[in-house]
Amino acid sequence: MNFRNYEHLELELTHNLNILAGQNAQGKTNILEAVLFMAVSKSPRTAHDSELVRWDQPWSRVRGEVQRRAREEVSMDLTLWTNGRKTVKVNGVTRRRMADVIGQVNVVMFGPQDLELVSGEPALRRRFLNAAIAQTSREYFHNLAQYRKALLQRNRLLKSLAGRPAPPGVLEVWDEQLAYYGARLMEARIRVVAQLSEQAQEMHYKLAGGRERMTMTYQPSFDLDGATAAESLGEVLGRVLEQRRAEELRRGLTLVGPHRDDLELRINGQFARVYGSQGQQRTATLSLKLAELGLVRQWIGETPILLLDDVMSELDDRRREQVLALTEDVEQILITCSQQRTFSDAILRRAGLYWVRDGRVEPLVTHGGGGTG
Ligand SMILES: Nc1ncnc2c1ncn2[C@@H]1O[C@H](COP(=O)(O)OP(=O)(O)OP(=O)(O)O)[C@@H](O)[C@H]1O
Ligand SMILES: [Mg+2]
Repeated sequence: MNFRNYEHLELELTHNLNILAGQNAQGKTNILEAVLFMAVSKSPRTAHDSELVRWDQPWSRVRGEVQRRAREEVSMDLTLWTNGRKTVKVNGVTRRRMADVIGQVNVVMFGPQDLELVSGEPALRRRFLNAAIAQTSREYFHNLAQYRKALLQRNRLLKSLAGRPAPPGVLEVWDEQLAYYGARLMEARIRVVAQLSEQAQEMHYKLAGGRERMTMTYQPSFDLDGATAAESLGEVLGRVLEQRRAEELRRGLTLVGPHRDDLELRINGQFARVYGSQGQQRTATLSLKLAELGLVRQWIGETPILLLDDVMSELDDRRREQVLALTEDVEQILITCSQQRTFSDAILRRAGLYWVRDGRVEPLVTHGGGGTG
């Protein structure tokens, strides 16, 4: 193991609902982080993998066995060295391409780091969309990588030209690439946002006890002219790139395309980003995540693992109860909290309870459902 503050940990989760309770800084979030890391080879908290390796240790290893309903059991085995080297084995076979790793284990996580999904920069909402779609579509994953490559090259070229006109045909090559891959990304996003927004709206309505209406709309960086299919989107994007060329050359930057997309979220008609209260923003984020879960479930025919980190604080009793009601049919949930008192007796009775303390995890036996800690 040697993952964060865990020297060694073996955990078999036999319940659908698993509650990890413990005081601050004991290792609750670290467990969820390890599960997400196992699924996507990335941490939700840091871009620096080496931070995951237990201090003073040369490497970290995370293994997981996941039973799947719609297909064979999957085993994951990740090793991470402090110098950043990482190996990923799926069912014992080393996989070098992320496209072969993503989607083997499906996970949706909600945690404090997601709260900016509503209030923060558009890049965070694009990342959410990308992650949601890429979980189930290798094609999207591939298109995204190709688009990013082309964008990088094109921006480099624009910068190096420093305002001078490009030699004929040079920019056009990249424009074509951007339009081709960009259009495919946008087509998928338009389709997925339509499905997500419907589900997110329903989730938010229920979480807020029927008092709030959330809407989510796709905001592209240019006028789509009614296009929704890849081919016509590509034509429009190609045209817009041509129109904006002079400005892009001047600024040395690609100004239009899916890398500039956003999602607009409103609660009762008002911008959630600007006017939403903390509880509302939290509810909206949670709704988006639950919508993602619903969508992935539709696509793959089983529910992803749901990780809820510290979701209960800041939600009022009604919203709290709704979270558990709405996730009742999820096959595996891991939820962290600092106090078990957060949960009703009925919930505690159907849950696997664990007490986390200083990098150790002990099953908690409850007496008459009340629970001690
Ligand atoms: N690479 C590492 N090696 C060893 N310990 C680490 C490493 N990274 C983080 N830690 C320790 O892990 C501890 C627990 O972290 P974690 O975020 O899991 O706490 P938590 O139980 O979720 O607490 P909270 O209730 O405050 O969210 C931290 O106090 C930190 O010092
Ligand atoms: Mg935590």
